[in-house]
Amino acid sequence: MKEVQAFIEEKKQKFAQTPFMKFLQDKSIDPRQRLAWAPAFAPFAMSFKDFNRNILRKEPADSQLQEMINQHSYEDGRHWVWFVQDMKLMGYDNPINYTDTLKFLWGEETIKVRKMAYDLFAICTFEEDILMKLVVVESIEATGNVALYEIAQVAKELQQITFQHHPYFGESHFAKETGHIQAEMDDVERFIESIQLTEAQKEKAFTLVEKVFADFTEAMDEMLTFAQKHPYDQPFTTMGNIKQSRTAA
Ligand SMILES: [Fe+2]
Repeated sequence: MKEVQAFIEEKKQKFAQTPFMKFLQDKSIDPRQRLAWAPAFAPFAMSFKDFNRNILRKEPADSQLQEMINQHSYEDGRHWVWFVQDMKLMGYDNPINYTDTLKFLWGEETIKVRKMAYDLFAICTFEEDILMKLVVVESIEATGNVALYEIAQVAKELQQITFQHHPYFGESHFAKETGHIQAEMDDVERFIESIQLTEAQKEKAFTLVEKVFADFTEAMDEMLTFAQKHPYDQPFTTMGNIKQSRTAA
């Protein structure tokens, strides 16, 4: 697995350089606007609950790896609660028409975010090889580690405005995303590295890593576009490109 881990690391470094990350780092933009994509991320944040519970988890576990994935799924499968709390804290809990909500969540502007979830289900639902599921989890965790770090930096600025701790976007979530599977084990990284893969498994693992990172990159690109088109206090209406600078009138 060592080579797969190295490949994930390489992909992670590239993911850290994407335009979405630069946008999050741009302090000339109001922190609320840098997180204006948050409501549009809902299809993934909420589907991730089912992905952990129904797809990754298998009780009772029939192997040590499945047990580790189960432990991981209980942790990551409950983070949607924080997402819901943050939506409330960020002022998105306004009543909108049910049909408008449906159109928003399944609309054109969240296609990539939904695809990211659909692909994870497609890859893992009938996958018999637990090692491939582990590769997917490790890839997701690597993207989460990078993105949640940058998002937590924005949330710190946001906190100075709202005086609220943001459980999903804030540092406490990043602290839970170590970059690796969250299982009760000392040095989980070394354990994973020591797993031997056949050539066929290695080849498939590389393809899966590529796929997960491509999906996350495209989805976060989509979120960048969303944040450039929607004022943070009007996420449910589409505008042209809006002024991004906090100093602009
Ligand atoms: Fe999480």
